[in-house]
Amino acid sequence: MENSANATLILGGKYGDEGKGKIASKIAEKSDLVIRATGGANAGHTVVDPATKQKIALHLVPGGIVYPHTLCLIGQGVVLDLDILFSEIKTLEELGITNLQKRLKISGRAHITFPYHKELDELHEKMKDKPVGTTKRGIGPTYSDKDNRVGLQVYDLLLPLEELENKIDVATRLHNQLFKANGMEESVVDPKVLAKEYHEYGLKLKDMVVNANQLIREARQKDWKTVVEGAQAIWLDKDYGDYPDVTSSNCCTEGTLIGAHLSYKDVKCVIVVLKAHDSRVGNGPFPTEQPAHIENDTVTEYDEEDACIGDVIRELAGEYGATTKRPRRTGWFDAAQARTALEILGADYVVLNHLDTMGKIINKLGVIGICEGYYYLGEYIQYYPDDIRLTKQMPEPVYGAVSDGWEIPKGTKKYKDLPENAKKFIRYIESLIGVPIKWVGVGPGNDDLIEVKEE
Ligand code: IMP
Repeated sequence: MENSANATLILGGKYGDEGKGKIASKIAEKSDLVIRATGGANAGHTVVDPATKQKIALHLVPGGIVYPHTLCLIGQGVVLDLDILFSEIKTLEELGITNLQKRLKISGRAHITFPYHKELDELHEKMKDKPVGTTKRGIGPTYSDKDNRVGLQVYDLLLPLEELENKIDVATRLHNQLFKANGMEESVVDPKVLAKEYHEYGLKLKDMVVNANQLIREARQKDWKTVVEGAQAIWLDKDYGDYPDVTSSNCCTEGTLIGAHLSYKDVKCVIVVLKAHDSRVGNGPFPTEQPAHIENDTVTEYDEEDACIGDVIRELAGEYGATTKRPRRTGWFDAAQARTALEILGADYVVLNHLDTMGKIINKLGVIGICEGYYYLGEYIQYYPDDIRLTKQMPEPVYGAVSDGWEIPKGTKKYKDLPENAKKFIRYIESLIGVPIKWVGVGPGNDDLIEVKEE
């Protein structure tokens, strides 16, 4: 292949919510093409419009849309909830984001999340002994219909009404039986009604729908700088993650490439985003999790003096879900798990977010732990095991301690101006994970990202 799409991939190295949006925005600002590749409205990130400084919460539209020179693509790996997509488009238009319909392109092969997928998501969760704790956005059922070859692609919405109705009819026969058997008569799908509604959506989408393979071809020929905004993260990947406590897409490097219509030859750089502490929302193993006042996805009442370590991390880091607002489970940075993730993802560089928060956590608690390896099945290991489900043994973290905190003065823009203890922390983490930390996050804003370089 003579040309390549010159692509940088931004991926999550833990359980999602690492703050991928910040670095993605920074790179998108200097890119021609911005792609969203996997997942659906289960993801959420806040972007800042550089023109108005307004914050915009997005689930589906690539964050790079705020830069007027970019072309944005929603790739074939994404599952699209059209109610959410159009409400985002409306918000963006109201904010004066220019030329939206021309700049936002949608692969005709992306699959549609219908309202019945959300109902199925809830029903499946209710029926499990141990629910996954999904976002209830219909993600799993949309992907399982895709795998079962009864999913509908964006292209199907452009078909004549009768053909669309027939496809919806076939797609929902089994689901309708399930709804009836569970006394959910009101959820039974009438293909006629739904087809009419989604045919209208098709008319509205028409000008945005593309053959994304050809769009990528153009990107290669014109040497467009491309950035792919990854969704979720490696330990939620349906193959690499803690199955069944995972999402239903492949959010690893290779899955992201398929979702973005890219070849491995297009990859220029893989950037993996981590935080200085860890967090997880939903169920599943979390070896370094710290106790917290959380029950049924809600923070229970507690006094300041009774705060657990997990509460301190959550409150100082503001760990509440962007999509569901659920309080996140929190814990110490797991370097053994990070190292494994970086190897799987083929990481070139790491962004370490929440460096400012970690300084505050150390100052508040006096000492914190960093997981360097685990005792697992009687052995010391330095990788994340993949058979926790079989052995039913949680890897027991072996911690290094950090007790020298820091405070990063507001407005700090250069690495050389970071407190010495913060620099020491960066070098310590880097030595454990084996991949260069190229940027550190020092605050919630898009500009609060510092390049790690001595000047
Ligand atoms: P689903 O993707 O809604 O099916 O949820 C499956 C699991 O992935 C649940 O534990 C969710 O909380 C988690 N999850 C899905 N999307 C995200 C995300 O963007 N950030 C963090 N966790 C997520």
